[in-house]
Amino acid sequence: MPITLKVNGKSRTVDVPPEMPLLWVLRDELDLKGTKFGCGVSRCGACTVHVNGVAQRTCTMPVSRAAGAEVTTIEGLSPDGAHAVQQAWEELDVPQCGYCQAGQMMAAASLLAKTPNPTDAQIDDALNTNLCRCATYLRIRAAVHRAAEIKAGGAAVPASGKSGKED
Ligand code: FES
Ligand code: FES
Repeated sequence: MPITLKVNGKSRTVDVPPEMPLLWVLRDELDLKGTKFGCGVSRCGACTVHVNGVAQRTCTMPVSRAAGAEVTTIEGLSPDGAHAVQQAWEELDVPQCGYCQAGQMMAAASLLAKTPNPTDAQIDDALNTNLCRCATYLRIRAAVHRAAEIKAGGAAVPASGKSGKED
């Protein structure tokens, strides 16, 4: 059944069963592989994208529920990697294996859109079911605070000049 949704700003029509999970549509029909499959049962957050601006898990969301909606994946967070969350993640070298990180970043971006300066408790509350096997939780939390600063006008440290691996 043809279903039309807007993905990363472009109208896309897919001819799939209406109960197909949105994650399958993104990865297999639209070739947007940044969004990951983890648990498949809405428990890990690897498959998080924004649907109409709100973080949603797509492994259990039938694509029919996204018909007509605006879907943003990690590929669409910003055209050039300039979103505050992307800058903060790079500045603080957050990922280890990276598998969970697209979901983490989409959850963080959704949190910051409604809570521009979250507390530790608000960050933990919003992200505590986004699981990371590499346990990057402290860096994720620090990066959310840094992204809030960048959004509020704090200059990002250019990638070439950041401290960390180069030190
Ligand atoms: S793959 Fe969707 S929440 Fe784990
Ligand atoms: S960075 Fe490896 S699972 Fe999170």
